Parts: sequence; structure tokens; C-alpha cells
Amino acid sequence: MNGLTDRNELRRWDASHASAKVVEYFSQRACDYQTKSLRFPWAWMRAAELAAIRGLLGDVEGGEILELGAGAGFYTRDLVGRGARHVWAVDMSDAMLAMLPSGPITPVLGDAQTMRLSRRFKLLVSTGMLEFVRDASAVLANAAYHAEPGACFVLLVPRTSVFGRLYRRFHRAHGLRIHLFDRNWFETNAPRTGWLVRSVVRVPPFSLAVRLVRTE
Ligand SMILES: C[S@@+](CC[C@H](N)C(=O)[O-])C[C@H]1O[C@@H](n2cnc3c(N)ncnc32)[C@H](O)[C@@H]1O
Repeated sequence: MNGLTDRNELRRWDASHASAKVVEYFSQRACDYQTKSLRFPWAWMRAAELAAIRGLLGDVEGGEILELGAGAGFYTRDLVGRGARHVWAVDMSDAMLAMLPSGPITPVLGDAQTMRLSRRFKLLVSTGMLEFVRDASAVLANAAYHAEPGACFVLLVPRTSVFGRLYRRFHRAHGLRIHLFDRNWFETNAPRTGWLVRSVVRVPPFSLAVRLVRTE
């Protein structure tokens, strides 16, 4: 296949060139994405991020969870391992979804900005995806559409910082333009899209973990 522009799912979404590049980038890395997550240096970064995300999510036992940008399922595995009843794992890359483990997981091929499911959730999570999305506030709005009143949405994003800029440069080197975030971006965009900011935690070396709560 010549790139991913021939993929049916991209035709269906009328995806922009930018998101086609994102799908292509992650689909090419899907096979060993999970394995690499468990190796240095990613494993070292992942450990701090995982602790922060677990802390903001709290108890997931018995929960039905919507995960946006699930990738190969690093966090999906953790959620299921900690007793989540079911995870709906959304991703734009079918190659990434193919790497999800078996278990109480429903893979959903779609764009987190626009996909629609016919259910609402108390718990939503998105790690390492928002920076790749053309319109990050559209993701917050779409998450709000899928959230029950009082629901919690936990995100992991790269922070506006020296290391964040290095991370942005890393992705620019292979043609992806990513966004960096700060607390102010969430304070501004969360209320506009149906959320309130409850916690913002800095996670070294360059991330922010954020907990939003759906307004009633
Ligand atoms: C850096 S990976 C993170 C994967 C996983 N959350 C993790 O922490 O290992 C980003 C993932 O987001 C997906 N993605 C990027 N933009 C997306 C969008 N608009 N909708 C759904 N998935 C998207 C990519 O295909 C990729 O699998």
C-alpha cells in the first residue's frame, strides 16, 4: 500500500493530510510499540506517567471506561489489570488497535474529535494523543458528549517547557507537528467544552497529567 491514503477508514473520515500522516506514523510503529514502551528510555518515562495517571484515575475496579488514542494498549492493559469491567479503546490506527490484548476491550476505529458511540461513561482517559490532534478542544467537546454528568476525564499531554520543545522537535524530524499544553490552555478550554479542571500535575520530564470533571 502506498501510504495510508488508500485506507477505507481515511476515506470515510475525509481525514486531513496531517491526520493521515499521524495514522501512517503510528501504524508503521504499531508492531513493536508495546515492546518498546517496556524498554529504556520509554519504560523510565512511562513509570512516572503511569503513577500520575493512576493517581488521578483512582479506583477503576468495575468501571466502564472510554479511552481515546489507546494505541497498542499500554494503559488499556493497566486499566483491565486493575479491575476495569470494560474498556472502549478508540484509535485512528487500525494497526495499533490490532495490537490490543484480548479481554474486556472493544476496539473502536475512529477519530477522537468526531467519533460517536451510543453510550456514556463515568471515566474517560487519553494519554499521549491530544498533541497529535488538529483541534484539541474538539476532543474535549467530544469526550464531554460521551461523559455522564460528574464524569472524570484524565489526560496526559506534553507540557510547554524545554523538554516539551525537544519532544516537539523529535516529532518534527519525521514530519509531525505536535501541540504543547499548559495549565492555562485547560483552564480556558475545559469550561468551553463542558469540563472543569480539578487537578494538574507535572510529570517529569515533559508531561502534564490533568483531571477534568464533567459539569452537571
Ligand atoms: C503516542 S500514541 C499513545 C498510545 C497510548 N495512549 C499510550 O499511551 O501508549 C498516540 C496514539 O493516538 C492515536 N491518535 C492520534 N490522533 C488520534 C485521533 N484524532 N483520534 C484517535 N486516535 C488518535 C495514534 O494513532 C496513536 O495510536
